[in-house]
Amino acid sequence: MAKQQIYLDYAAATPVSPSVQKQMEPYLAADFYNPSATYSAGREAHKTLEAARSSIASILGSRSSEIVFTAGGSEANNLAVHGIMRTNSDANLIVSAIEHESVLAPAHRYKVKEAAVTPEGRLDVVRLAKQIDDQTVLVSVMYANNEIGTVQPLKEVSRLVQSVRKQRLEAGHKLPIYLHSDACQAGNYLDLHVARLGIDLMTVNGGKIYGPKQSGALYIKAGVELQPLIDGGGQERGLRSGTESLSAAVGLSAALTETQALRATEVTRLKQLQQEFYSLLAAALPKSVLNGSEKYRLPNNVHLTLPGQDNERLLIQLDEAGIMAAAGSACSASNDEPSHVLAALGLSDSDARASLRFTMGRATTSEDIQTTVRTLSAFVS
Ligand SMILES: Cc1ncc(COP(=O)(O)O)c(C=O)c1O
Repeated sequence: MAKQQIYLDYAAATPVSPSVQKQMEPYLAADFYNPSATYSAGREAHKTLEAARSSIASILGSRSSEIVFTAGGSEANNLAVHGIMRTNSDANLIVSAIEHESVLAPAHRYKVKEAAVTPEGRLDVVRLAKQIDDQTVLVSVMYANNEIGTVQPLKEVSRLVQSVRKQRLEAGHKLPIYLHSDACQAGNYLDLHVARLGIDLMTVNGGKIYGPKQSGALYIKAGVELQPLIDGGGQERGLRSGTESLSAAVGLSAALTETQALRATEVTRLKQLQQEFYSLLAAALPKSVLNGSEKYRLPNNVHLTLPGQDNERLLIQLDEAGIMAAAGSACSASNDEPSHVLAALGLSDSDARASLRFTMGRATTSEDIQTTVRTLSAFVS
């Protein structure tokens, strides 16, 4: 019998959906033309690129001209942070303490303040309000956290940023203030409509939504000025030079369309699995503690501390049993430090090193969850 394989690391990577793959295929070989070429095959490629952009824009409730394709989520986050900060070099920015490294690392190259989160893993908007000063040009708050799955109070942050903008306007103070949100983990489960959310820049990531890795986009509201990271041929309105990858753009647009169409049913299904996960854990491992708010949480995330345990050992044992899970985020796997996200919640180093992340997805079944909890509890000493 083939070894069982249970994949519970969908926050790290999702497989490309079969329908997305099919839509991408022509652009890998037969329709390989450069969208900037002037002959008709090139013009067709350009039309395909713009159709992909326009379907992304319609899901985000934006204009097509406000979407810039990037090679993944990290690049889009870097473009947002460096792009705004290089345009406003004396200004400062505020980022939540639980941002992904691709926001935190560029932010720390400038004058930056980190905004605290509550022990439940949600941004403290009252404290954030006190950190904004006359020189703050950017606030970056992720939509949903990649480690603990907590959904952030974006609409409240948006109201705060809008009120600061209004005060500045009334005072004749010229510095703009923008809100960026990293929505890499949100695409499968949350509403991405930028006007309803009230945000100025938003990162979308194909690799987390059953599209190709290294596909992504940055929504940039009309009127927001920013510097490009990559100069060259001037593609993407000069904001991201380089020959466009039609397969990536088509893959991103197909994946976003499909995942948003499946959103309501997947949210309901995964919430049930999540509840089942919690109750099996409560019975089998009563000392386990859920990290992050249960209420404001992605439906696919279960993040636990198993006090006194060693997460590295458990992950190896789970892997040997055919179960793939994570400790913290795969993106920072190369770094041996305990997670900055768990530290921001107030967890001790030893509790952080006793924590595991399980993230479910389209192929996860109730049987997978039962097997996982049974297997895990046998390994817990
Ligand atoms: C919240 C968040 N932001 C950004 C990224 C970076 O995306 P990528 O590795 O595709 O560049 C990730 C990837 O895990 C993520 O979860």
